[in-house]
Amino acid sequence: MKVITLANQKGGCGKSTAIINLAIEFASKGDRVLLIDTDPQRSSYDTLQIRKDNLVHTIVAYSNLYETLGKFEDQYEYIFIDTPPHADEVMAMAIACSDIVIMPVQDSPLDIMSTKSTVELVRKAKELNPGLLHYFLLSRIQPRTVLAKELVDILERNYKMGILKTPLSNRVAYKYSLIYGNSVSELRNAAQAAQEIKTLAQEIKELVKAGGLPDDSTKYR
Ligand SMILES: Nc1ncnc2c1ncn2[C@@H]1O[C@H](COP(=O)(O)OP(=O)(O)O)[C@@H](O)[C@H]1O
Ligand SMILES: [Mg+2]
Repeated sequence: MKVITLANQKGGCGKSTAIINLAIEFASKGDRVLLIDTDPQRSSYDTLQIRKDNLVHTIVAYSNLYETLGKFEDQYEYIFIDTPPHADEVMAMAIACSDIVIMPVQDSPLDIMSTKSTVELVRKAKELNPGLLHYFLLSRIQPRTVLAKELVDILERNYKMGILKTPLSNRVAYKYSLIYGNSVSELRNAAQAAQEIKTLAQEIKELVKAGGLPDDSTKYR
């Protein structure tokens, strides 16, 4: 079992959107996937309830995360954890229990600043769990713009943490698909978004399987 957590105390950076799409992508390729929503707003739990096929098993858990993971570890290949917009105990626990923590960040200096306390939690968790992988995910961005390049520079300078090679662009498809509890891959006419999610899922899977890369520096260019 591998645990993949999406965390950033900045609300609205795209955690739930990314995690729903990734969980559906993994499950539709045949992996047994559980999504644990630890955010009392329950965005990902409620969204996944809209679809009736139970493709991604979904539960809520606001405490005792460690015990919950122990209960399910033999049943799933991947457990995704969505987190609340607070760098609190729940988020700290989710990060500490993870194989990989992914921090979505939007292309705004304000968003980069407010990622600081999540980065601190990751640094603390690494003291106890040195194998923890952690990456920024450029989220809702316009790729290959000057702004995106500047964002990467600022992230590198401030936090010295890796950035996933695959960004998620700002696209209407990400909003539209969730109306039906679908991923963008399940929409017609959303080929570019679907490709992004497919590539991102592959990138994450490879990182988790390999336990990181020998040169774990920034990958996005
Ligand atoms: N890649 C994207 N493109 C366009 N809109 C997005 C994207 N990711 C998220 N959104 C929208 O941004 C808002 C916040 O996203 P959400 O996933 O709820 O963030 P969080 O879980 O971090 O609070 C939602 O309205 C969502 O539809
Ligand atoms: Mg959310």
